[in-house]
Amino acid sequence: MNSLSNLLEEINKYKYFVADAKFLSLWPEIHTALKSKKVFCLDSPEENKNFEIYQQAIDFFLSEGITRDSHLIVIGGGATSDFGGFIASTILRGIKWSVVPTTLLAAVDASVGGKVGINHQKGKNLIGSFHLPENNYFYYDFLKTLAEEEMQSGKGEVLKYCFLSQEIFDLVNMEGLSQKTVQACIDYKMQIVEKDFYEKGERIQLNLGHTLGHALEKCENIPHGLCVAWGLEKILELFSPSLLDHFYTSLKKLELTIPEVQKLDKDAFFSYLKSDKKKNIEGEISIIIPRSIGEIEIKKIETKELKDIILSNDNTKNYF
Ligand SMILES: NC(=O)c1ccc[n+]([C@@H]2O[C@H](COP(=O)([O-])OP(=O)(O)OC[C@H]3O[C@@H](n4cnc5c(N)ncnc54)[C@H](O)[C@@H]3O)[C@@H](O)[C@H]2O)c1
Repeated sequence: MNSLSNLLEEINKYKYFVADAKFLSLWPEIHTALKSKKVFCLDSPEENKNFEIYQQAIDFFLSEGITRDSHLIVIGGGATSDFGGFIASTILRGIKWSVVPTTLLAAVDASVGGKVGINHQKGKNLIGSFHLPENNYFYYDFLKTLAEEEMQSGKGEVLKYCFLSQEIFDLVNMEGLSQKTVQACIDYKMQIVEKDFYEKGERIQLNLGHTLGHALEKCENIPHGLCVAWGLEKILELFSPSLLDHFYTSLKKLELTIPEVQKLDKDAFFSYLKSDKKKNIEGEISIIIPRSIGEIEIKKIETKELKDIILSNDNTKNYF
């Protein structure tokens, strides 16, 4: 979306909305435009992306007369788009929806590809489905009100794309974070998702940096994208050190700072790697290793072997 007025014109066609409450408080133009609409507002979206609030939202839309040909518009960061998309995928056996990502992380990742869901006490995103939005209305200026910590988290995901796509690497190294860079990340993810919607093959590459990143996220209170950036750095140190120069130049261009990680809880870290059901199949874990810019290898490795490599490498052993 090139202008706010175009976006407002577009969303004004619809009646039902899920929106991030904080975002609405920061963007009066959108808030005012939604005054005559049926809006379910989500406060603290990560905390409220749960079954109880899901039920409240379903009750709200059903009592407001939503029908099978309604089209839900979801406005917010990744937690809101996951939540709203899940409402759309389940209410009345699924209705159409479109998304307006308002954080960098949502723009380059969460709002693209149709993975939607809510959290369960046993873990994040354990209830969900695949339900592609009809449209993705990204408006770059929404990032202007985003807290620096949230920007940093989104940049961690952008950094990942630098190693998947030569075009994105070149863009980042020319202009850092820009509307063009973000759009290139969105286009790249869309193109992968079109080929492998259910993540049976090619889509797995989008987990670059996530294997070790998620384990770090389990142990430390560090934003997701920064854990991904850390996880990517470790994978390069362990398996592809010749690409570290590219890593650091891209990092600098993005004005991204890798989190300082001190001692980690060894048992928690490795038991997470072992129990990550998505990546760990019969004791083997799939790790994604960049071999050059735009070229990756998906390597299956026993979790025990990965642990030994991590605990014997000079760059990583001191974390434990
Ligand atoms: N479905 C997927 O494929 C996918 C991929 C990655 C992450 N995710 C999910 O995305 C979520 C993380 O997304 P996130 O980082 O956007 O977090 P978020 O949605 O919690 O938003 C972060 C914070 O930014 C605020 N905010 C939103 N837009 C703003 C704006 N324009 N200006 C100021 N503040 C704004 C929100 O209120 C919130 O406090 C997690 O729940 C994660 O599971 C999903």
